[in-house]
Amino acid sequence: MNVKYEKAKEILENYHQEQVLKFYEELTESEKENLLDQILKIDFEQILELYHQAQQQPELQNDKIEPIPYVDKQKLTEEEKEKYEKIGREKIKSGKLAVATMAGGQGTRLGHKGPKGSFYLFPNKSIFEIICDTLKQAQKEYGITLNWYIMTSKENHEETTLFFEKNQYFGYPKEKITFFTQGELPMVSHEGKIILSSKGTIKEAADGNGGIFESMRRAGIIEELQKNGVEWLFIGSVDNVLLKMVDPLLIGLTETQKHLAASKTVAKRNPKEKVGVFCKINGKPNVIEYSELPQEMAELRDQNGELYYGESHVMCNMFHIQMLQQISKTKLPYHIADKKAEYINTEGNLITPTEPNCYKFESFIFDAFKSIEEMTILRVKREEEFAPVKNAEGPDSPETARKLYQDFYHIK
Ligand code: UTP
Repeated sequence: MNVKYEKAKEILENYHQEQVLKFYEELTESEKENLLDQILKIDFEQILELYHQAQQQPELQNDKIEPIPYVDKQKLTEEEKEKYEKIGREKIKSGKLAVATMAGGQGTRLGHKGPKGSFYLFPNKSIFEIICDTLKQAQKEYGITLNWYIMTSKENHEETTLFFEKNQYFGYPKEKITFFTQGELPMVSHEGKIILSSKGTIKEAADGNGGIFESMRRAGIIEELQKNGVEWLFIGSVDNVLLKMVDPLLIGLTETQKHLAASKTVAKRNPKEKVGVFCKINGKPNVIEYSELPQEMAELRDQNGELYYGESHVMCNMFHIQMLQQISKTKLPYHIADKKAEYINTEGNLITPTEPNCYKFESFIFDAFKSIEEMTILRVKREEEFAPVKNAEGPDSPETARKLYQDFYHIK
């Protein structure tokens, strides 16, 4: 008797997921082994719960929502800036900062084949190299080579590491770069059935950028940071080509405000812009997604004509090591996305759907803010720090990011 098989079969029967083993007899011995291992690693109770959550309408809550206080970089005096920057520079020079890039996303909107960071924004420069340039600049400015942690997904890990290898790590010391892989969760059909990507593989997808805390802990990175005496970790996205990861002003301001977390924001362009905005919910920092912000709140302006809820979350976050330790031990909630995903049907054929056909479960980095009492919010200028590459064309596309990058660096 194959003990593993019997155990997997029993679990699947308990959760009415027997379809997962439908093609088992057609598999090779190693494929069988892989499928059984995959089944035994899944938390079926959690998947069942998430599926039920997807069936329910979000409850209307009586939360108290308020705008969040922020500091506008443009309104700081030269003395204030100098004061904060001095504190930050000291921290950077003495090795108290490390940086992380979240590069586990699928980049479906961009549609580039391969990890988003391997997209060439210019004929001779990929997004990964652009991000790395800022670290090389910091080497010159502060005389320190910062540790760079890069989160990949199981799907893009190999391609990402190969891309770095092929490009000689863009001239950055290889030993200063650490790759770690985020977690995955199975995708579930609208009927609650776990789907297959091949006859011997359960379709899984990265568990969202909020997975960074737990995956860092699992990879021993949080412990390593602490051992190295690192106090601050800047976490940025892979797709902002003006991302300023090494920012003494942000560190100095956060230290002065005695907060353990910080985020840089840009002013929301108009009430309809599709960005999540900072606010306070029941007194704690939070981000409301554009789809969840009622129109009247989105349009509310203060006496200066500024949007009340206008601080866009642009994935420029910084956490103190103490906060990282705390968050990495808590479970962030999962959000549910209705996605189009290829799957193997009951006849064993690969189906490419034209409409969303299954649920994907993701946690978001900003949900971590809920467990923080107060955090620093620094509004920076969009044209200086935010040039996202999200869509293949139109707004937030390579074309718009290229222009912003060229304007900022005065490239003709
Ligand atoms: P997005 O939410 O824009 O998602 O990610 P995406 O996967 O890059 O693009 P689409 O939605 O499929 O078109 C914002 C940042 O979070 C990272 C991304 O790599 C990007 O830096 N991310 C997202 C992860 O690291 N892991 C995830 O599971 C999701």
